[in-house]
Amino acid sequence: MLEINLSGLKLKSPIILAAGVLGVSYSSMKRVYDAGAGAVTSKSIGIVPREGYPNPSVIPVYPDTFINSVGLANPGINNFISEISECKANGLVIIVSIFGDTNEFYREVALKAQEAGADAIEVNISCPHAEVSSWGSDKCLTQTLVEYLRKAISIPIFIKLNPNVTDLPEIALAAEKAGADAVVAINTIRAMIIDVNTKKPYLHHGSGGLSGRSIHPIAVKHVYDLYKVLKIPIIGCGGIFEWEDVIEFFLAGASAVQIGTALFKGLDIISKLNTDLKRYLKNNNYRNISDLTGLAH
Ligand SMILES: Cc1cc2nc3c(=O)[nH]c(=O)nc-3n(C[C@H](O)[C@H](O)[C@H](O)COP(=O)(O)O)c2cc1C
Repeated sequence: MLEINLSGLKLKSPIILAAGVLGVSYSSMKRVYDAGAGAVTSKSIGIVPREGYPNPSVIPVYPDTFINSVGLANPGINNFISEISECKANGLVIIVSIFGDTNEFYREVALKAQEAGADAIEVNISCPHAEVSSWGSDKCLTQTLVEYLRKAISIPIFIKLNPNVTDLPEIALAAEKAGADAVVAINTIRAMIIDVNTKKPYLHHGSGGLSGRSIHPIAVKHVYDLYKVLKIPIIGCGGIFEWEDVIEFFLAGASAVQIGTALFKGLDIISKLNTDLKRYLKNNNYRNISDLTGLAH
């Protein structure tokens, strides 16, 4: 069985759409949900519309690996409420990713998303090419923000962790202590590519975040380390392309996973993953994918 219960959310599959990739409108999220995802995460939404950085902002580097500095382009929460409501009206499980320049802005966006019908909030404290990464680099800032949101919000709160730190478990523990329901590990890894002819970085913004196949083993290690210290569920994210990548995350300690970069190849990958995962469970005599969580320890 692929059904899971994630912090009270009942998902038909443990595969969730990662933030920032296709979660821009009801219709794009519906396509991902209909393709077999257990839930969808929206693009990170802020208090006001934001254009993001100029192109080039997404560049393929190695096979199945991207560098991006989209810069949190989003329509602002007031223009996104109807997309959330439509997701809810049509039975999608929707996690709204939020960001802010201040704790108060985070709270305001979270409250509006909750009111519109979000099933959970994912707090982006980790984008490597925007200011919000500062929260996720500091355990005190993380704890204060999560405590503040916890007091205001009744739906589950997931914290999207910043891998560009020395001690990620310390920051995850601060989030857990403050009342987070789960963590997502990981966001993209700070990176840069330079054009040898122009002698300038390729991305207009200069630096960006690496995603896709190249970061998968790094993400697995983070999940493995987090599982040793956390009591709350971990959502593994980074470089899922094959069913083995999903199983690896579960064995390391994940209770669910998110997929982003691989979807640029098409949405069929989700139903293929679901089919392959069911086959693995059957062949190995497991009733439920949740039985695999943490078995590598
Ligand atoms: C083009 C692009 C845009 C992204 N935008 C966001 C975002 O708005 N918020 C966020 O939390 N993560 C964002 N991410 C990070 C992904 O959610 C995910 O953490 C990361 O890409 C690793 O997963 P993957 O290897 O499956 O893509 C973005 C990633 C990409 C490639």
